[in-house]
Amino acid sequence: MAYENILVETNGKVGVVTLNRPKALNALSAGLIKDLGAALDTFEANPDIHVIVLTGSEKAFAAGADIKEMAGFSYMDAYLADFITVGWERVTSCRKPVIAAVAGFALGGGCEMAMMCDFIIAADNAKFGQPEINLGTMPGAGGTQRLTRFVGKSKAMDMCLTGRMMDAEEAHKCGLVSRVFPLDDLKDEAMKIAETIADKSLPISMMVKESVNAAYETTLTQGVKFERRLFHSTFATDDQKEGMAAFVEKRQPNFSDR
Ligand code: CAA
Repeated sequence: MAYENILVETNGKVGVVTLNRPKALNALSAGLIKDLGAALDTFEANPDIHVIVLTGSEKAFAAGADIKEMAGFSYMDAYLADFITVGWERVTSCRKPVIAAVAGFALGGGCEMAMMCDFIIAADNAKFGQPEINLGTMPGAGGTQRLTRFVGKSKAMDMCLTGRMMDAEEAHKCGLVSRVFPLDDLKDEAMKIAETIADKSLPISMMVKESVNAAYETTLTQGVKFERRLFHSTFATDDQKEGMAAFVEKRQPNFSDR
């Protein structure tokens, strides 16, 4: 399928989506969100794809929702269209692991989109921020909620109220980002990480993702119980039998994703 606003490629079991509106620093227009949703649908439907990498250019992961597109919206335009919900939430409903590989600006909806992914790796030139307050608006794609869960109240308040940017080192220190690489290495490192995950059993990766995400939605007791049930269910899979047999027989496992 041909896309106008993204580039899509498949590398073994890894699907890569590159946001591609260079003239607008990958601002997240309605067209881009539609393309992204269609690409995720295709990767989710393909049993050979185990992991998805979402990335942008060296200058920008995404500089936010498209300001030019929304500048003239009325309240009714935003409310009736459920602006920022339709399409945007597709990333969060993806059942396969999604890695955000961020270089350059990840601002506003761009930062929020990265946080919707399962984890973020960053180039050393990455800059994260929720600058919506400078535009007379506020984060609308989960920024006040997800950033607070990632970095805590004090820093989330600081970021959302001042609209300042955070560099990759600060983002790493405060837990927004899992690893930082030199800009030139980001794509290769993203692929290496994705391939490491892609070599595991797909259903088990999906269960791990589901279980970690439950930590944000439940109490500790409920979350641990949910994890325990999923853990028990892994003993019904062929891949648990294969994984443990391979360990005992001192060989690499050959998972069948069943
Ligand atoms: N929407 C639309 N166009 C954007 C854009 C955005 N979010 N960000 C950048 N652009 C466009 C610029 O208008 C410019 O286009 P023209 O060449 O046609 O003028 C082009 O991209 C290049 O941008 P700059 O010339 O500004 O580049 P710079 O290097 O000088 O500055 C920047 C880079 C600091 C990221 C600056 O572009 C900027 O501040 N962008 C806006 C960031 C922002 O406020 N994001 C939040 C948007 S609101 C939101 O996301 C709501 C939500 O919660 C979902």
